[in-house]
Formats: sequence, structure tokens, C-alpha cells
Amino acid sequence: MSIQQYSQEDFKKLKKAGCITARALDFLDDKIKPGITTNYIDRIVSEFLKSNNATSAPLFYKGFTKSICTSVNHVVCHGIPSEKILEDGDIVNIDITSYIDEFHGDASRMYCVGTPSVKAKKLVDVTYESLVRAIKILKPGVTLGDIGYEIQNFVENEGFSVVRDFCGHGIGRLFHEEPSVVHYGKKNQGMKIKEGMVFTIEPMINAGNFQTKVLNDGWTAVTKDKSLSAQFEHTVGITSNGCEIFTLSNKHDKELNQ
Ligand code: MF3
Ligand code: CO
Ligand code: CO
Repeated sequence: MSIQQYSQEDFKKLKKAGCITARALDFLDDKIKPGITTNYIDRIVSEFLKSNNATSAPLFYKGFTKSICTSVNHVVCHGIPSEKILEDGDIVNIDITSYIDEFHGDASRMYCVGTPSVKAKKLVDVTYESLVRAIKILKPGVTLGDIGYEIQNFVENEGFSVVRDFCGHGIGRLFHEEPSVVHYGKKNQGMKIKEGMVFTIEPMINAGNFQTKVLNDGWTAVTKDKSLSAQFEHTVGITSNGCEIFTLSNKHDKELNQ
């Protein structure tokens, strides 16, 4: 399969799916607090998606049994919601992919449970800023290497590391399509992006080493050195002179609202 280039009609449907995902993430803002379980978050997001006539793409995807991913502290990605109780000082990534009218909208954000440590807060802020910087350079002709460079250069200067084992991906009619969008790289290297391409950028950034391992459940990826990890994700579509951020939040993403 080659890389899809989506039409303006498709962009409207991608915006609809992305908007539901963004609103589901906004809806969680005042609900993430010490004492709740990650299963509770899974349940309320599942209900939110249903009430918006959307379904969850992760549910039953390759055997995944929940509607969202919840990745706490040293979990890098693909954390499975459970009876685990969130505690004051935890940081948690919530990753939602809604599916509606044959299109996907994939985004994730970090939430601080109670009061985070200074280091955890910095990790979260640097991770978000790396995504913002990558999105700001997007336009036809930019290479995948340029995107990776933007993230890696910024993150490593701040003393953190970029996860290599997981990457962003093309998305649209399928949940995961070509190309792979890695979050490290060199300027001018790799494929040039074109108008109509749709993909996610979803940097996973570790406080320690970039190495990860997957637990015996087959999903949960953690940092090998047990250091904290953070991630933010948006779904974007390339336009003639920039990009449209389908999962943009009016409430957050102040830096990205033009
Ligand atoms: N939403 C994740 C991503 O950003 C994928 C989750 S797949 C699942 O690509 F099966 F773990 F849910
Ligand atoms: Co994704
Ligand atoms: Co995702």
C-alpha cells in the first residue's frame, strides 16, 4: 500500500473525527484526580464517544480489550486501563482514537494528577513543546527527517531522550497506514511530505534513557530504566501551504490556534 492523499471532502470527515477526540480529551480535564482508576477513565470516554455516535478504534484492535490507552509515569505508551488507582503526583497519558463516518482521529495528552514534581512538569512541558515545534514546520516539501530533527534537537537540548521503538503513522480510513513518522532524524532526509497526506506526530520522551521494553501483557511499553515518560499526539493533514490540525483543542493548544 502506498501513501494516501486525501481530498478536501475527506479532510472534512477527518476534522469531524478529530474534533470528537479533542472534545473527549477536554472533557477529562476536571475528572482526572487522585483516587480514580484508569478503568473509570476508560468507561467515561467510551460513554462520551457513544453519545457522539463515534466508536473507539483501539477497542478490539489486534486483541486490545479497552477503548483507550492510559500510560502512567514510566509507562511509555499502550498502557491498558485497569483497577490501578491514580495517586497525587502521577502523570498519565490518555490516548483516544475515535472513528466516525469511516475516518479516524487520533490524539493524546498528558494529565497531572494532583501536583506533579518539578521534573515531571518539565518533562510534560518539553514533550508538548516538541510536538508544537514539529507541527509548526509542516508544509509540502518538508521531509520526515526535518520533523524528527525538530523534535530530537529540542528534546535532547533539554536533557531528555526520544523513544525510538514507537512512532507516528499515516491515518485516515485506516487506523495505522504508511508512512512511519519517527521522532528523531536529520534535516533533509527521508520522504518529502505532500498536500493531502494525513499522519500523526506523537513524540514519546523519556526523562532517562530512550530504551523501552514491552511487558508480558503484550501491550504495556515501559522505560527500561524506570524513568518517567511523557507523550502528546495530534492528527494533522498537509495543506497547500501548511497543515490542518484535526485534533486541535480550542481550550488547549493556544500556541497552535492561529
Ligand atoms: N492510539 C495509539 C496510537 O497513537 C494506538 C493504540 S493501539 C491500541 O497509535 F491497540 F493499543 F489501542
Ligand atoms: Co497514533
Ligand atoms: Co494515539
